[in-house]
Amino acid sequence: MKPSLKETIDSYDPSAPLEQASTIPASWYLDQGVHDLELQTVFARSWQLVCRLDQLSEAGQYVTSEIAGEPIVVVRGNDNLLRGFFNVCRHHAAAVMNEPEGRASQLRCPYHGWTYSLEGELKGTPDFSGVCDFDRSTNGLAPVATAVWEQWVFVRLENHDSQPPALNHFLGVDLINQIRLLALDNLHWMERRHYTFDCNWKVFVDNYLDGGYHVPHLHKGLDSVLDYSGYKIENGARFCLQSSRMVSEGAEHETGAVRKGDRALYYWIYPNFMINWYQGVMDTNLVVPRGVDKTEVIFDFYFPDISAAARDRNRPSIEVGERIQDEDVAICKSVQRGLNSRAYEAGRLSVRREAGEHLFHRLLFADLKKGLGLVQNRER
Ligand code: FES
Ligand SMILES: [Fe+2]
Repeated sequence: MKPSLKETIDSYDPSAPLEQASTIPASWYLDQGVHDLELQTVFARSWQLVCRLDQLSEAGQYVTSEIAGEPIVVVRGNDNLLRGFFNVCRHHAAAVMNEPEGRASQLRCPYHGWTYSLEGELKGTPDFSGVCDFDRSTNGLAPVATAVWEQWVFVRLENHDSQPPALNHFLGVDLINQIRLLALDNLHWMERRHYTFDCNWKVFVDNYLDGGYHVPHLHKGLDSVLDYSGYKIENGARFCLQSSRMVSEGAEHETGAVRKGDRALYYWIYPNFMINWYQGVMDTNLVVPRGVDKTEVIFDFYFPDISAAARDRNRPSIEVGERIQDEDVAICKSVQRGLNSRAYEAGRLSVRREAGEHLFHRLLFADLKKGLGLVQNRER
């Protein structure tokens, strides 16, 4: 008999120290029930990146997104405040805004023309006279919590906790202080690329968090500029910093040309956001589950100079990043297939390398366990 969702979640032991720990069980990467629970808990209850702040610098600018399967729109109001809403018309549920981003004086649903102000209030309802007991003031767009950190805008869908953590609290002072020191204001967004992985989103995150374990085997170019033996792994409350000294001697030509400086910093922020920083270059990764075995990873590339003249100089750096992703695509697919094998249930973790994965799995367990109770209460 197939185990219940609760039994599946409970088959992981979060209390084992790293030396004795196993990964989360294979079923967590395969089971539709776990996937749905993750969307409702891990993704709907954490702060999720929506866009960059510079996309919303003026009143009327908006960005649409999908978070935990929910359509979302974030817009700057005429009062200059940022607000997030479910992008769901209160009439018959069509998406009100349908471009990835843009600028509007009001939010107009394309289906029957209902209009909302930039502040989300319902303003116009064509051909709706004679409808009884209908109060426009309670039919505005449903809000979502919205907050800004560094140059990014985040939303949090659910506010059911008695005291939902503010974004700052969710990130933690330690992380906020560390990132502030990087002076990210000096970097500017140049380009976005999308990659599709044939694996569960957690396979991608595990791969990212293996403490450089796979780098010498899979990424020869990257390996040639990193100090593998000196690679450091430091866990925070909800983040992991992997870092390495950069070496120039013996660097592979293409990688060495665009990965300079003293240090490489790789920040993972629970559950699905990564900041990869080399001196003078940064890319971020947003890991978006698109199904149990389908994952979209959105890369944004930032540089100090994005003038027309600098773009050509910056592009080789993006190409090196792309090559590393291509190298990871095949292995993530291979892992997903192996997780499906009857021969595999869970694996052990390297004490030297895989503390980040251990943190990820324990945080995930805590959220799923808590979420399971809430979801079951709701269904009762
Ligand atoms: S669904 Fe939006 S106006 Fe009808
Ligand atoms: Fe990799």
